[in-house]
Amino acid sequence: MLHRRICSTIVCVSCLGLAGLALAQDDKKVAKLKVLLPEEDAVLTIEGMPTKAPGKLRVFESPPLEAGKTYSYTLVAVIKPNNYTTITRTRKVQVAAGKEVEVDMQQNDKDHPDEAVIRYVPTPPDIVDAMVKLAGVGKDDIVYDLGCGDGRLVIAAVKAGAKKGIGVDLDKERVKESKENAQKEGVADKVEIREGDALKVKDLSDATVILLYMGNEFDLLLRPILEKELKPGTRIVSHRFTMGDWKPEKTEKLTGKDGDQYLIHLWKIEKKK
Ligand SMILES: C[S@@+](CC[C@H](N)C(=O)[O-])C[C@H]1O[C@@H](n2cnc3c(N)ncnc32)[C@H](O)[C@@H]1O
Repeated sequence: MLHRRICSTIVCVSCLGLAGLALAQDDKKVAKLKVLLPEEDAVLTIEGMPTKAPGKLRVFESPPLEAGKTYSYTLVAVIKPNNYTTITRTRKVQVAAGKEVEVDMQQNDKDHPDEAVIRYVPTPPDIVDAMVKLAGVGKDDIVYDLGCGDGRLVIAAVKAGAKKGIGVDLDKERVKESKENAQKEGVADKVEIREGDALKVKDLSDATVILLYMGNEFDLLLRPILEKELKPGTRIVSHRFTMGDWKPEKTEKLTGKDGDQYLIHLWKIEKKK
């Protein structure tokens, strides 16, 4: 059961020093929440209420709670591990009068996975071509770009002969741009662009190639989904970012036409054991 009044008055012990609430009337007692975060400046809300205390360890107290009842709180932490990744991590916890709960929000929990949004940065055209080549795109391929930006990777894949390209992006503007670009390039009949979360695509088992330019944190969230959903033989090519301890089968180091250095990585899904 949600207990909204508590959350409107939940306080940070370290900020306000309201431990005296513990001496409240009747047999009511406070509950304590000890929250562990991965970053000093992660933004934390409890039941939608912003909290102010900084630090990796934050301690909160509720106002007095009725004995014998449990109360459910939703905690949401927004974490920015770098300037292009925003992770939203949510936990639901049960609290009770006189009890202390430790909420460890330092890591992703695979049972309640994080959400992630990555800033738009396009892959340069010559690197797009190198990715399509490294994936070995051919006429039987169904190619997904998870976080497709302006559609350049799936458009290039279809132009290189793929049967179909599917681009997914959270951003409406990018989706519109991708569709317009597929029209302009004369491949709209083979390119499907969807607005949605790349971590929630339902038909990844149709893919034979996945193209990516997202981030190491994002790729770690995506990896278990790819390992579960993709067919053996499916190739994954990522611009710059890797998949934790899943070693790529091949990495190419390229000098772009702009003179910058680029890395592209290839993985293949093996036969299930
Ligand atoms: C770094 S850009 C890469 C664009 C394109 N793949 C390329 O290589 O040119 C990341 C793109 O992913 C989109 N994006 C970010 N988070 C997403 C998510 N969770 N689901 C779907 N798209 C997302 C952004 O809107 C952006 O267009």
